[in-house]
Amino acid sequence: MSRLQVVSGKGGTGKTTVAAALALALATEGKRTLLVEVEGRQGIAQLFETEALPYEERKIAVAPGGGEVYALAIDAERALLDYLQMFYKLGGAGRALKKLGAIDFATTIAPGVRDVLLTGKACEAVRRREKQGGYTYDYVVMDAPPTGRITRFLNVNDEVAGLARIGPIHNQAQAVMRVLKSPETAVHLVTLLEEMPVQETADGIAELQEAELPVGQVIVNMVRPHLLDEAAVGAADGDHRDDIAKALAATGVPGATELVSPLLEQAAEHAQRVELEREQRGVLEKLKVPTYELPYLGEGADIAGLYRLAKELRKLGVGA
Ligand SMILES: Nc1ncnc2c1ncn2[C@@H]1O[C@H](COP(=O)(O)OP(=O)(O)OP(=O)(O)O)[C@@H](O)[C@H]1O
Ligand SMILES: [Mg+2]
Repeated sequence: MSRLQVVSGKGGTGKTTVAAALALALATEGKRTLLVEVEGRQGIAQLFETEALPYEERKIAVAPGGGEVYALAIDAERALLDYLQMFYKLGGAGRALKKLGAIDFATTIAPGVRDVLLTGKACEAVRRREKQGGYTYDYVVMDAPPTGRITRFLNVNDEVAGLARIGPIHNQAQAVMRVLKSPETAVHLVTLLEEMPVQETADGIAELQEAELPVGQVIVNMVRPHLLDEAAVGAADGDHRDDIAKALAATGVPGATELVSPLLEQAAEHAQRVELEREQRGVLEKLKVPTYELPYLGEGADIAGLYRLAKELRKLGVGA
Protein backbone atom coordinates (compact mmCIF):
# COMPACT_ATOMS: atom_id res chain seq x y z
CA MET A 1 0.00 0.00 0.00
CA SER A 2 1.49 3.33 -1.08
CA ARG A 3 2.43 5.62 1.79
CA LEU A 4 1.23 8.79 0.05
CA GLN A 5 -2.44 8.53 -0.85
CA VAL A 6 -3.68 11.41 -2.99
CA VAL A 7 -7.45 11.82 -3.28
CA SER A 8 -8.77 13.81 -6.24
CA GLY A 9 -12.02 13.71 -8.20
CA LYS A 10 -14.67 15.98 -9.62
CA GLY A 11 -15.78 18.81 -7.32
CA GLY A 12 -18.46 17.81 -4.83
CA THR A 13 -18.18 14.05 -5.35
CA GLY A 14 -16.77 13.55 -1.84
CA LYS A 15 -12.98 14.02 -2.04
CA THR A 16 -12.71 15.47 1.45
CA THR A 17 -15.05 12.86 2.94
CA VAL A 18 -13.30 9.95 1.23
CA ALA A 19 -9.83 11.27 2.13
CA ALA A 20 -10.86 11.49 5.78
CA ALA A 21 -12.41 8.00 5.76
CA LEU A 22 -9.27 6.66 4.09
CA ALA A 23 -7.05 8.28 6.75
CA LEU A 24 -9.20 6.63 9.43
CA ALA A 25 -9.15 3.25 7.70
CA LEU A 26 -5.38 3.35 7.31
CA ALA A 27 -4.89 4.33 10.94
CA THR A 28 -6.75 1.27 12.18
CA GLU A 29 -4.82 -1.07 14.48
CA GLY A 30 -2.29 1.28 15.92
CA LYS A 31 -1.11 3.01 12.77
CA ARG A 32 -0.59 6.74 12.51
CA THR A 33 -1.80 8.73 9.52
CA LEU A 34 -1.60 12.38 8.53
CA LEU A 35 -4.52 13.87 6.63
CA VAL A 36 -3.48 17.00 4.75
CA GLU A 37 -5.41 19.60 2.84
CA VAL A 38 -3.84 22.01 0.40
CA GLU A 39 -6.54 24.37 -0.75
CA GLY A 40 -6.92 26.49 2.36
CA ARG A 41 -10.62 25.78 2.69
CA GLN A 42 -10.64 24.15 6.12
CA GLY A 43 -12.77 21.30 4.82
CA ILE A 44 -11.19 18.81 7.23
CA ALA A 45 -11.88 20.96 10.28
CA GLN A 46 -15.50 21.32 9.16
CA LEU A 47 -15.87 17.60 8.63
CA PHE A 48 -14.43 16.72 12.04
CA GLU A 49 -16.36 19.55 13.65
CA THR A 50 -13.28 21.19 15.13
CA GLU A 51 -12.00 24.74 14.93
CA ALA A 52 -9.90 25.81 11.92
CA LEU A 53 -6.67 23.84 11.65
CA PRO A 54 -3.54 25.88 12.24
CA TYR A 55 -0.35 25.19 10.32
CA GLU A 56 0.50 22.50 12.76
CA GLU A 57 -0.05 18.77 12.81
CA ARG A 58 -2.62 17.91 15.41
CA LYS A 59 -4.51 14.80 16.36
CA ILE A 60 -8.12 14.96 15.22
CA ALA A 61 -9.38 11.40 15.54
CA VAL A 62 -8.71 8.01 17.04
CA ALA A 63 -9.14 5.04 14.74
CA PRO A 64 -10.77 1.72 15.61
CA GLY A 65 -8.18 -0.46 17.35
CA GLY A 66 -6.23 2.52 18.66
CA GLY A 67 -4.62 4.26 15.69
CA GLU A 68 -4.34 8.01 15.35
CA VAL A 69 -5.29 10.47 12.63
CA TYR A 70 -3.43 13.76 12.57
CA ALA A 71 -4.44 16.64 10.33
CA LEU A 72 -2.63 19.55 8.74
CA ALA A 73 -3.83 22.40 6.55
CA ILE A 74 -0.74 23.10 4.45
CA ASP A 75 -0.18 26.75 3.77
CA ALA A 76 2.19 27.77 0.98
CA GLU A 77 3.72 30.69 2.87
CA ARG A 78 4.51 28.65 5.93
CA ALA A 79 5.76 25.82 3.77
CA LEU A 80 8.15 28.27 2.12
CA LEU A 81 9.50 29.30 5.50
CA ASP A 82 9.96 25.62 6.42
CA TYR A 83 11.72 25.13 3.17
CA LEU A 84 14.06 28.09 3.60
CA GLN A 85 14.80 26.92 7.12
CA MET A 86 15.61 23.44 5.87
CA PHE A 87 17.96 24.51 3.10
CA TYR A 88 19.39 27.79 4.22
CA LYS A 89 18.96 27.54 7.99
CA LEU A 90 17.11 30.83 7.84
CA GLY A 91 15.20 30.71 11.11
CA GLY A 92 15.17 34.36 12.10
CA ALA A 93 15.98 35.53 8.61
CA GLY A 94 12.88 33.72 7.37
CA ARG A 95 10.73 35.67 9.81
CA ALA A 96 12.36 38.89 8.64
CA LEU A 97 11.68 37.94 5.04
CA LYS A 98 8.05 37.40 5.86
CA LYS A 99 7.83 40.87 7.42
CA LEU A 100 9.28 42.37 4.27
CA GLY A 101 6.64 40.73 2.15
CA ALA A 102 9.22 38.77 0.21
CA ILE A 103 7.15 35.64 0.73
CA ASP A 104 4.10 37.03 -1.02
CA PHE A 105 6.33 38.03 -3.85
CA ALA A 106 7.85 34.59 -4.12
CA THR A 107 4.56 32.73 -3.95
CA THR A 108 2.65 34.89 -6.40
CA ILE A 109 5.34 35.57 -8.94
CA ALA A 110 7.03 32.25 -9.55
CA PRO A 111 4.90 29.90 -11.65
CA GLY A 112 4.19 26.66 -9.93
CA VAL A 113 6.26 27.48 -6.87
CA ARG A 114 3.19 27.54 -4.67
CA ASP A 115 2.29 23.99 -5.72
CA VAL A 116 5.84 22.73 -5.27
CA LEU A 117 5.77 24.02 -1.72
CA LEU A 118 2.49 22.23 -1.00
CA THR A 119 3.47 18.89 -2.50
CA GLY A 120 6.95 19.29 -1.04
CA LYS A 121 5.52 19.61 2.46
CA ALA A 122 3.38 16.48 1.98
CA CYS A 123 6.40 14.53 0.71
CA GLU A 124 8.46 15.76 3.66
CA ALA A 125 5.81 14.28 5.99
CA VAL A 126 5.96 11.01 4.04
CA ARG A 127 9.72 10.74 4.44
CA ARG A 128 10.00 12.10 7.98
CA ARG A 129 11.45 9.73 10.56
CA GLU A 130 11.46 9.58 14.32
CA LYS A 131 14.72 9.58 16.27
CA GLN A 132 14.33 5.82 16.68
CA GLY A 133 14.37 5.46 12.89
CA GLY A 134 10.75 4.54 12.12
CA TYR A 135 8.51 6.68 9.97
CA THR A 136 6.62 9.41 11.81
CA TYR A 137 3.49 8.62 9.77
CA ASP A 138 2.63 5.24 8.35
CA TYR A 139 0.50 6.99 5.72
CA VAL A 140 -0.11 10.50 4.47
CA VAL A 141 -3.50 11.10 2.85
CA MET A 142 -3.96 14.24 0.78
CA ASP A 143 -7.30 15.92 0.14
CA ALA A 144 -6.10 17.17 -3.22
CA PRO A 145 -7.30 19.64 -5.88
CA PRO A 146 -10.02 18.37 -8.26
CA THR A 147 -9.46 16.19 -11.33
CA GLY A 148 -9.18 19.13 -13.70
CA ARG A 149 -6.12 20.45 -11.87
CA ILE A 150 -4.55 17.38 -10.26
CA THR A 151 -2.03 16.47 -12.96
CA ARG A 152 -0.61 19.99 -13.18
CA PHE A 153 -0.60 20.26 -9.42
CA LEU A 154 1.45 17.10 -8.99
CA ASN A 155 3.56 17.51 -12.07
CA VAL A 156 4.56 21.09 -11.45
CA ASN A 157 7.73 19.95 -9.77
CA ASP A 158 8.90 18.76 -13.14
CA GLU A 159 8.46 22.28 -14.51
CA VAL A 160 10.35 23.80 -11.61
CA ALA A 161 13.08 21.20 -11.82
CA GLY A 162 13.40 22.21 -15.45
CA LEU A 163 13.57 25.93 -14.61
CA ALA A 164 16.25 25.66 -11.96
CA ARG A 165 18.86 23.38 -13.42
CA ILE A 166 21.11 23.19 -10.39
CA GLY A 167 21.07 24.02 -6.72
CA PRO A 168 18.84 23.12 -3.79
CA ILE A 169 15.55 24.06 -5.50
CA HIS A 170 16.36 21.75 -8.35
CA ASN A 171 17.30 18.96 -5.98
CA GLN A 172 14.19 19.48 -3.86
CA ALA A 173 11.90 19.42 -6.91
CA GLN A 174 13.61 16.29 -8.18
CA ALA A 175 13.28 14.59 -4.80
CA VAL A 176 9.57 15.45 -4.61
CA MET A 177 8.99 14.22 -8.15
CA ARG A 178 10.75 10.97 -7.34
CA VAL A 179 8.26 10.33 -4.53
CA LEU A 180 5.22 11.41 -6.60
CA LYS A 181 6.08 9.24 -9.58
CA SER A 182 7.03 6.19 -7.56
CA PRO A 183 4.91 3.34 -6.20
CA GLU A 184 5.16 5.20 -2.87
CA THR A 185 2.33 7.37 -4.22
CA ALA A 186 -1.16 6.45 -5.40
CA VAL A 187 -3.55 8.99 -6.91
CA HIS A 188 -7.20 8.04 -6.40
CA LEU A 189 -10.16 9.58 -8.19
CA VAL A 190 -13.54 9.88 -6.49
CA THR A 191 -16.59 9.73 -8.72
CA LEU A 192 -20.33 9.23 -8.70
CA LEU A 193 -22.16 6.80 -10.98
CA GLU A 194 -23.17 9.64 -13.25
CA GLU A 195 -22.11 10.57 -16.74
CA MET A 196 -20.19 13.81 -16.06
CA PRO A 197 -18.03 12.68 -13.13
CA VAL A 198 -17.33 9.34 -14.82
CA GLN A 199 -16.20 11.17 -17.97
CA GLU A 200 -13.99 13.42 -15.85
CA THR A 201 -12.53 10.35 -14.20
CA ALA A 202 -11.71 8.79 -17.57
CA ASP A 203 -10.04 12.02 -18.75
CA GLY A 204 -8.21 12.42 -15.44
CA ILE A 205 -6.79 8.90 -15.59
CA ALA A 206 -5.56 9.45 -19.14
CA GLU A 207 -3.84 12.68 -18.09
CA LEU A 208 -2.22 11.14 -15.02
CA GLN A 209 -0.96 8.21 -17.06
CA GLU A 210 0.37 10.53 -19.72
CA ALA A 211 2.34 12.37 -17.03
CA GLU A 212 3.53 9.03 -15.61
CA LEU A 213 1.86 9.66 -12.28
CA PRO A 214 0.71 6.51 -10.45
CA VAL A 215 -3.04 5.98 -10.70
CA GLY A 216 -4.44 4.20 -7.66
CA GLN A 217 -8.14 3.41 -7.46
CA VAL A 218 -11.39 4.81 -8.68
CA ILE A 219 -13.64 5.28 -5.69
CA VAL A 220 -17.31 5.37 -6.58
CA ASN A 221 -18.96 7.32 -3.80
CA MET A 222 -22.58 7.62 -2.69
CA VAL A 223 -23.69 4.34 -4.24
CA ARG A 224 -27.35 3.70 -3.51
CA PRO A 225 -28.69 0.17 -3.24
CA HIS A 226 -30.96 -1.20 -5.93
CA LEU A 227 -34.44 -1.75 -4.60
CA LEU A 228 -35.56 -3.93 -7.48
CA ASP A 229 -33.86 -7.02 -8.78
CA GLU A 230 -32.95 -7.48 -12.44
CA ALA A 231 -36.27 -9.12 -13.32
CA ALA A 232 -38.29 -6.36 -11.68
CA VAL A 233 -36.25 -3.69 -13.48
CA GLY A 234 -36.89 -5.48 -16.75
CA ALA A 235 -40.60 -5.64 -15.98
CA ALA A 236 -40.85 -1.96 -15.09
CA ASP A 237 -41.25 -0.79 -18.65
CA GLY A 238 -43.65 -3.55 -19.70
CA ASP A 239 -47.40 -3.17 -19.49
CA HIS A 240 -48.26 -4.85 -16.22
CA ARG A 241 -50.97 -2.45 -15.17
CA ASP A 242 -53.68 -5.10 -14.95
CA ASP A 243 -51.55 -7.63 -13.05
CA ILE A 244 -50.52 -4.99 -10.53
CA ALA A 245 -54.08 -3.73 -10.11
CA LYS A 246 -55.21 -7.29 -9.43
CA ALA A 247 -52.43 -7.93 -6.95
CA LEU A 248 -53.17 -4.68 -5.12
CA ALA A 249 -56.89 -5.39 -5.03
CA ALA A 250 -56.11 -8.81 -3.59
CA THR A 251 -54.41 -7.21 -0.58
CA GLY A 252 -57.82 -5.96 0.48
CA VAL A 253 -56.38 -2.61 1.58
CA PRO A 254 -58.98 0.07 0.86
CA GLY A 255 -57.91 2.35 -2.01
CA ALA A 256 -54.92 0.17 -2.87
CA THR A 257 -55.74 0.17 -6.57
CA GLU A 258 -55.19 3.94 -6.69
CA LEU A 259 -51.52 3.20 -6.12
CA VAL A 260 -51.09 1.54 -9.50
CA SER A 261 -49.99 4.63 -11.41
CA PRO A 262 -47.62 6.10 -8.79
CA LEU A 263 -46.07 2.66 -8.27
CA LEU A 264 -45.50 2.20 -11.98
CA GLU A 265 -43.99 5.67 -12.26
CA GLN A 266 -41.61 5.04 -9.39
CA ALA A 267 -40.60 1.69 -10.78
CA ALA A 268 -39.91 3.23 -14.18
CA GLU A 269 -37.79 5.98 -12.59
CA HIS A 270 -35.85 3.47 -10.58
CA ALA A 271 -35.35 1.25 -13.61
CA GLN A 272 -33.99 4.25 -15.49
CA ARG A 273 -31.46 4.99 -12.75
CA VAL A 274 -30.37 1.35 -12.61
CA GLU A 275 -29.86 1.36 -16.35
CA LEU A 276 -27.86 4.61 -16.22
CA GLU A 277 -25.68 3.26 -13.44
CA ARG A 278 -25.14 0.03 -15.36
CA GLU A 279 -23.90 2.06 -18.31
CA GLN A 280 -21.53 4.11 -16.14
CA ARG A 281 -20.18 0.98 -14.42
CA GLY A 282 -19.46 -0.30 -17.91
CA VAL A 283 -17.50 2.85 -18.76
CA LEU A 284 -15.52 2.57 -15.51
CA GLU A 285 -14.75 -1.11 -16.13
CA LYS A 286 -13.12 -0.23 -19.43
CA LEU A 287 -10.64 2.02 -17.62
CA LYS A 288 -8.97 -1.09 -16.17
CA VAL A 289 -8.35 0.61 -12.84
CA PRO A 290 -9.33 -1.11 -9.57
CA THR A 291 -12.64 0.29 -8.39
CA TYR A 292 -14.15 0.56 -4.90
CA GLU A 293 -17.72 1.43 -4.14
CA LEU A 294 -18.78 3.33 -1.04
CA PRO A 295 -22.41 3.55 0.06
CA TYR A 296 -24.58 6.63 0.16
CA LEU A 297 -25.03 7.61 3.79
CA GLY A 298 -28.68 8.51 4.17
CA GLU A 299 -28.05 10.12 7.54
CA GLY A 300 -25.30 12.35 6.08
CA ALA A 301 -21.53 12.18 6.10
CA ASP A 302 -20.94 13.26 9.70
CA ILE A 303 -18.27 11.80 11.99
CA ALA A 304 -20.26 8.60 12.54
CA GLY A 305 -20.62 8.36 8.77
CA LEU A 306 -16.86 8.68 8.37
CA TYR A 307 -16.28 5.72 10.67
CA ARG A 308 -18.80 3.76 8.64
CA LEU A 309 -17.04 4.59 5.38
CA ALA A 310 -13.69 3.72 6.99
CA LYS A 311 -15.09 0.33 7.95
CA GLU A 312 -16.30 -0.21 4.38
CA LEU A 313 -12.82 0.64 3.09
CA ARG A 314 -11.28 -1.89 5.50
CA LYS A 315 -13.71 -4.51 4.23
CA LEU A 316 -12.52 -3.72 0.71
CA GLY A 317 -8.97 -4.47 1.83
CA VAL A 318 -7.63 -0.95 2.43
CA GLY A 319 -4.71 -1.04 4.86
CA ALA A 320 -5.04 -4.79 5.39
N1 LIG B 1 -21.00 8.57 0.99
C1 LIG B 1 -21.70 9.70 1.19
N2 LIG B 1 -23.00 9.63 1.55
C2 LIG B 1 -23.73 10.76 1.74
N3 LIG B 1 -23.24 11.99 1.63
C3 LIG B 1 -21.95 12.14 1.28
C4 LIG B 1 -21.11 11.00 1.06
N4 LIG B 1 -19.87 11.45 0.72
C5 LIG B 1 -19.94 12.80 0.75
N5 LIG B 1 -21.16 13.22 1.09
C6 LIG B 1 -21.65 14.61 1.19
O1 LIG B 1 -21.49 15.23 -0.07
C7 LIG B 1 -21.06 16.57 0.07
C8 LIG B 1 -19.75 16.78 -0.68
O2 LIG B 1 -18.72 16.02 -0.02
P1 LIG B 1 -17.24 16.56 0.12
O3 LIG B 1 -17.22 17.91 0.73
O4 LIG B 1 -16.44 15.50 0.76
O5 LIG B 1 -16.89 16.67 -1.43
P2 LIG B 1 -15.63 17.34 -2.11
O6 LIG B 1 -15.37 16.58 -3.37
O7 LIG B 1 -14.51 17.44 -1.13
O8 LIG B 1 -16.19 18.78 -2.45
P3 LIG B 1 -15.34 20.05 -2.93
O9 LIG B 1 -15.08 19.84 -4.39
O10 LIG B 1 -16.26 21.18 -2.64
O11 LIG B 1 -14.07 20.07 -2.11
C9 LIG B 1 -20.96 16.84 1.56
O12 LIG B 1 -22.14 17.42 1.99
C10 LIG B 1 -20.80 15.46 2.14
O13 LIG B 1 -21.30 15.40 3.46
MG1 LIG C 1 -13.39 19.08 -0.48
